[in-house]
Amino acid sequence: MSDAALDDLIARLPKAELHVHIEGTLEPELTFALAQRNGIELEHASAEEVRASYTFDSLASFLAVYYDSMRVLVTVDDFHDLATAYLRKAASQNVRHAEIFFDPQAHTSRGVPFSTVMGGLRRAIVEARRDLDVHAELILCFLRDFSAEHAMSTLMESLPYKDWILGVGLDSDERGNPPEKFAAVFARARREGYFLTMHCDIDQEKTPENLRQVIEDIGVDRIDHGSNAFEDPALVRAILDRDLGLTCCPISNGWVTGGMKAPEITGLLEAGVKVSINSDDPAYFGGYLTENLQQLAAEAPLTRDQVLRLVRNAFEISWLPEHLRAGYLAEVDAVASA
Ligand code: ADE
Ligand code: ZN
Repeated sequence: MSDAALDDLIARLPKAELHVHIEGTLEPELTFALAQRNGIELEHASAEEVRASYTFDSLASFLAVYYDSMRVLVTVDDFHDLATAYLRKAASQNVRHAEIFFDPQAHTSRGVPFSTVMGGLRRAIVEARRDLDVHAELILCFLRDFSAEHAMSTLMESLPYKDWILGVGLDSDERGNPPEKFAAVFARARREGYFLTMHCDIDQEKTPENLRQVIEDIGVDRIDHGSNAFEDPALVRAILDRDLGLTCCPISNGWVTGGMKAPEITGLLEAGVKVSINSDDPAYFGGYLTENLQQLAAEAPLTRDQVLRLVRNAFEISWLPEHLRAGYLAEVDAVASA
């Protein structure tokens, strides 16, 4: 299959996105609109200038900019407009289902109430189901560079909204913040009925040990990033034994590490691991789901069969109810065989 034909197939396929931070979809144009609406001053003069300032070379350098930009998110409407912009973009790329991370502590710690965040995101999700035929759910991410106590109180704050939250995750700066720091929080989240996932960011100081902890000690249902597992056959075995899915983000990896991790991603895929491709923070890294698949396909390079497996995996490792999963997989098959 030619590169152009594969790109076209990727664009047309119905897709699921399982690793996208809603705050990471804040495009500079929306940052300016929200800043104006809320009377907030920005450092840069234009959206182009903001984009030109994105020169991250590590997770920490990205996170500093990511958190600073969130100052413009203040009202229910702000969170609604942010999520609506992402969901429209997702619909335009044939994303049929999205499990979207949000970072409530990044907002409550600035004085924005939890209810404001939930109200805006939820309204956008309900409207997207009605108007765009995109199905979306929320995953509450705890910030691992905050205390375990802060995470536990955030978990408690989430409980009245349980019907609107599918699971919990763990993100932010991994240095000195291993999975085990949050063992009690995740055990409680499990008892509350949430699905569990955690970031194991790429090429971190203690990535192999952190991967072991998320798999064996926390008992997650999925791993975010995690493709360093390819370097250790025991970790690959452990992932296969538990049938854990991975949510990899190649363009993001290219910004915060030396490359897109194509050999690791395809190596895991060929070993039988349910790897999926995702966009992470597309407004900052410059690529949504289609671009992530297309750029990985060019770099790896991926075969048509590998692309189809990656796209199917995302639905298979999603936390969709079985009847919806089956419907979306049938849509994938229909496009693949057309
Ligand atoms: N928060 C937003 N994006 C993230 C990432 N890729 N890793 C850790 N924390 C994040
Ligand atoms: Zn992420």
